[in-house]
This record gives sequence, C-alpha cells and structure tokens, in this order.
Amino acid sequence: MLKGKTILIGVTGSIAAYKAADLASRLIKQHARVHVIMTRNACQFISPITFETLTGQKCITDTFDRNHPFEVEHISLAKQADLAIVAPATANIIAKMAYGLADDMLSTTLLACTCPVLVSPAMNTRMYDHPATQSNLEVLRERGVRIIEPSSGRLACGDEGKGKLPDPADLVDRILLEIACKKDLAGKKILVTAGPTCEAIDPVRFITNHSSGKMGYAIARAAALRGAEVTLVSGPVGLEAPAGVKRVPITSAHDLFEAVTAVSGQQDIIIKAAAVADYRPASVSDEKIKKADNDLSIALERTEDTLQYLGSHKPEGQILCGFAMETSDLENRARAKLHKKNLNMIVANNVKVAGAGFGTDTNVVTFITADKTERMEIMSKGQVAMQLLDRLAAM
Ligand code: CTP
Repeated sequence: MLKGKTILIGVTGSIAAYKAADLASRLIKQHARVHVIMTRNACQFISPITFETLTGQKCITDTFDRNHPFEVEHISLAKQADLAIVAPATANIIAKMAYGLADDMLSTTLLACTCPVLVSPAMNTRMYDHPATQSNLEVLRERGVRIIEPSSGRLACGDEGKGKLPDPADLVDRILLEIACKKDLAGKKILVTAGPTCEAIDPVRFITNHSSGKMGYAIARAAALRGAEVTLVSGPVGLEAPAGVKRVPITSAHDLFEAVTAVSGQQDIIIKAAAVADYRPASVSDEKIKKADNDLSIALERTEDTLQYLGSHKPEGQILCGFAMETSDLENRARAKLHKKNLNMIVANNVKVAGAGFGTDTNVVTFITADKTERMEIMSKGQVAMQLLDRLAAM
C-alpha cells in the first residue's frame, strides 16, 4: 500500500529503539522506500547496521559524515519524504521540535519537513506526564504534528504506566491512514455494520451464526484509509478495531437497531455487512434452562429488520448498501432484497462457493444495483472493500 512513497523514520535514544527495526521492516514489506536517521543516543541502543540491512539505504547518524554522495542531506531527505515519523520519540527530541532547535541531523531534517509528521513518544511515565513534556506535545499538536498516544504497561524501568511505544503494526496503520490512499471520501460519514448478533436464550446460551466480521471490518478500514469518518457497529468478533475507526460494540439484533438508528440520519453512506439474526427467543429465561426427559422447543419472535427500516426512512442523498448471503438462487434473491429494502446496492455472496463466505480472507461477490449486475472474480476482502467503495463513491 506504500508503493512509491518515501518514509523517514527518526529514531531517538529510548529503550524502545529496537522496535523501530520492526517498523522499518514492516514499511519495506509495504513497498515503501525507508530512510532512517538516528540520534547519537539512539546508536547506544541499536546499531545503524540493523536499519541499513533492513532498508537498503544508508542510515544517517551524523550531519558531517563525508562518506556518501554530496548533497545537502537534511534538506534533500526532507524534500523526498512523503511522511516522517519519530519513533520512539524521547522527551528531548519532543522539546527540540517544539522549540525549533536544529543541532543534529534528525532535528535539522525535521525542521525542514513540510510533509505530515508523526511523533510516537516513548519514555518513563513521569517524564511523559511532566508539564514540560505535555506542553511541548501540545505545541506540536497545534502545529499539525500528529501525536500517537503511548500505550500503557510495564515500562523498562520497572514502573507501570503510560509511556510504551505502541506495537509497530499499529504505527504502520497510522502511517497508512495518513498516506496510503487517495482521500476521496474525506468529509464523508460512513456507517458500517459487521459480525454476527447473539440472541440470548438463558444466561448461558444464545443463538448466533458463523459471521467472523472480516468483511465489515475490511470495509471500515478501507473507508478510514480513504479519509471517511467511520462508525463501525460490531457484533462480538475477535478482531481489533481498525485504526481511525469509531467502534460501537453490540450484542443483539435489537442493540444493532438502536445503535444504527441513533446515528443513521447523519450518514452519507451506510453499509450493512452484519449477519443479523431474524429471530430471537420470545422470552429469555432468567435461570439456566435445565434438561428434562421431554423434548424442548423454544418459541421465537421476529427481530427488527434494521436495513428495511433504513430503506424506508432514507434521507435524500443517502447511499444504502446491504449484503445478501445465500446458498441458492443468489442473484434473484439478492435483487429482490435490493428492491424490497430500497437499497442503492446489494453485495451478493454465496456461502457455498469456494473462497467466499464466513471466516475466509477472500470473497466472491456480485455487485447488484437497479440497472447493473457485476460478477467479480475471487478477491481478498480488502480488495472487495475497495471495489465496493469505488462504486458507492461514484454514486
Ligand atoms: N438485515 C438487517 N436486519 C435484520 C436482518 C437483515 O439489517 N434483522 C440486513 C443485513 O445486515 C443485510 C441485509 O439485511 O445487509 C440482508 O440480510 P439477509 O439475512 O441476507 O436477508 P433477510 O432480509 O434477513 O432475508 P432472509 O433471511 O430471508 O434471506
């Protein structure tokens, strides 16, 4: 996702410096060109050779190093960079950036950068909480620098608290949010639903389905990467919320109805990928149901059909997209739902087709609108999400 992008990583003297190697490696795997500038103190924690091996580029540690081709290097790197990230960022580099000091290669280069700059602080909690550090971070924030909240846990010094460098995978996600895609959905509000619902029978049991949430999460992530303000109403799944997405957790079809209708009026696009139960137990037992010698039957009642409701209360200009998972007569049934629920598009997939359906990382979908049927080849769910958003954005 970062092909053709140049990323500058500034590494400063924190014990978390070793994690910057993982960050560099992950960016290289996304096909970015990565340059690393280290402060002198960073070199005490990790060797420049590590970064040179990972990035295939000379790691810069000294403004007056004369062993490489002549260029005013701090300016040329600042010009080339599509994004700069300081990870880990010590209290010292944060203070220098806040005051515009330029006394080594990293601070000098950062002062010359006009690209987006991310700062990922990593230090002892007390240093992080100190008013000096907090006010320096505030100065940077006001100047448009993106500050990545440190995570909490056991710090290298033995203290517990805030100050850890986040997982490098999360740093990559933040970078992707900044520069990976064209921001053609900037200013748009998109609501996505994902995952299964669970309908309680008693305090122990519930009725659910096999939805993993992967398709809906891929859509939410893709929409955020394209600049949308994304709300993800999610049933219980084992997935991390994508970076930059507001997740609203729900359990039942009723919860989903409430969560969706609370915000649906303000949305530009609503994509309903959740596998919502159509029936729930008519009454939920307060006690665990005990087995007996006779058969058991559970009376069921209909749940709210959220998509049907949205279709009949659709504000002018809102785009509504449903999903239809079928096991036979896919296109006819999906098209019938498109009309019945007053949708702009329905994405049909047959759970019996290889590479489609629950839990897989791929899907085989048909995009159906009032006047068009597009049968797509097998794709990753990430690619399906991008293709779907292309079509909805064009509407
Ligand atoms: N849907 C919903 N609320 C429900 C049931 C479904 O919002 N109670 C939404 C789903 O999120 C999906 C679309 O409606 O986007 C189609 O869901 P599906 O289960 O395929 O269709 P149903 O209308 O439930 O019809 P059936 O179960 O008979 O196939």
